[in-house]
Amino acid sequence: MKHITEFDVNNKKVIVRCDLNVTIKDGKILNDDKIFASLITINYLIKNNAKVIIMSHLGKVRVEEDKKDKSLKVVYERLRELLPDNILLYFSQNTKGKELESLISEMKPGNVLLIENTRFEDMLDKKESNNNDELAKYWASLGDLFINDAFGNSHRKHASNCAITKYIDNGIGFLMEKELNNLEILLNPIVPFTVIMGGAKTKDKINIMPNILDKCNYLLLGGGIANTFLSINNEVGRSLVSKESIEEVKEILNQYSNKIIMPVDAVVENQYNIMNKDINEITSEDCIYDIGPKTIELFERYINISKTIFINGTVGKYEDNRFELGTRNILNICSQSNANVILGGGDALASSDHFRINKFYFKSTGGGATLEYIGTGKLACLDEQNSIRLKQ
Ligand code: 3PG
Repeated sequence: MKHITEFDVNNKKVIVRCDLNVTIKDGKILNDDKIFASLITINYLIKNNAKVIIMSHLGKVRVEEDKKDKSLKVVYERLRELLPDNILLYFSQNTKGKELESLISEMKPGNVLLIENTRFEDMLDKKESNNNDELAKYWASLGDLFINDAFGNSHRKHASNCAITKYIDNGIGFLMEKELNNLEILLNPIVPFTVIMGGAKTKDKINIMPNILDKCNYLLLGGGIANTFLSINNEVGRSLVSKESIEEVKEILNQYSNKIIMPVDAVVENQYNIMNKDINEITSEDCIYDIGPKTIELFERYINISKTIFINGTVGKYEDNRFELGTRNILNICSQSNANVILGGGDALASSDHFRINKFYFKSTGGGATLEYIGTGKLACLDEQNSIRLKQ
């Protein structure tokens, strides 16, 4: 793969695929690490007189209604604040068409354009998410060079990060390079290697879990994903469970039960109260929102014997201070341990910022991408980008 510095970008229209998929609540960005992390490549291109065309996805867009809160406009506003005052930054509401093309034709070297959420093109046949060639060819026609800096999305083959590389000269940016360099220690980790997995994107995580379990010594589970595993043999009440994944979870438990460490107690809420309960005391009225103190102690024992740790997601609903203890303690214990600890993904990064616990080996912008990298040693879209270039 070529690096951005190997190209002459002066006066060129450079399409940069970033991962600006930030969490937005009530119109506000909760954590802007991904935007910050993308600045190094964007600023390099501005400094070197490129016309910078930024593309990114944001959330999932399935129906027209989704477009309202999945617009990159709010990211554009944050980018406006972060870029130097003298830089002209445009926003295109269109992901295709004459208006977008004329905006690009008017750009001068050093100008920046952010194009609306690439997944707006998912409304018809999921063209973006299905890596559609025709769409990729169109997007490629908008620029002279394509730079893939969207590490967080590199486990997915989208038209804007994968098929596009068939139709335009391409390479990787500074963020992609930094991520790949820092994550190398996860390919052959010093053991014991422990993965701590929490959060909600359960289905995706369960798909890659057998590969992860082949590579790690222990997998500590919290959050929605732990509830799904617990639900096989326990009452979990009203807790978040991924019902569609139950069969896969049973198989994983059969095959890897010696490596999977599940919560033994939890902080639950029901119509009367919030309390700690052992897992076997949970009733149909309870909802699990955090791991309990006995689980924190149990996890601490595994953390303290580990030499390499990867954290993805959070073990509780930490943004509500009634359910923050699990996440806060696990981050603290990890940051004080002797292991090389890597955090990956929006929620893990946001929780570390929230508690101001930052002493880690590396904080990666990719959650799902890093899991795929650990599990398979590859990243779907980069693999393709690389092989296409080698073929030419
Ligand atoms: C992420 O935040 O994990 C990446 O941006 C990928 O997002 P996705 O899971 O919606 O594809």
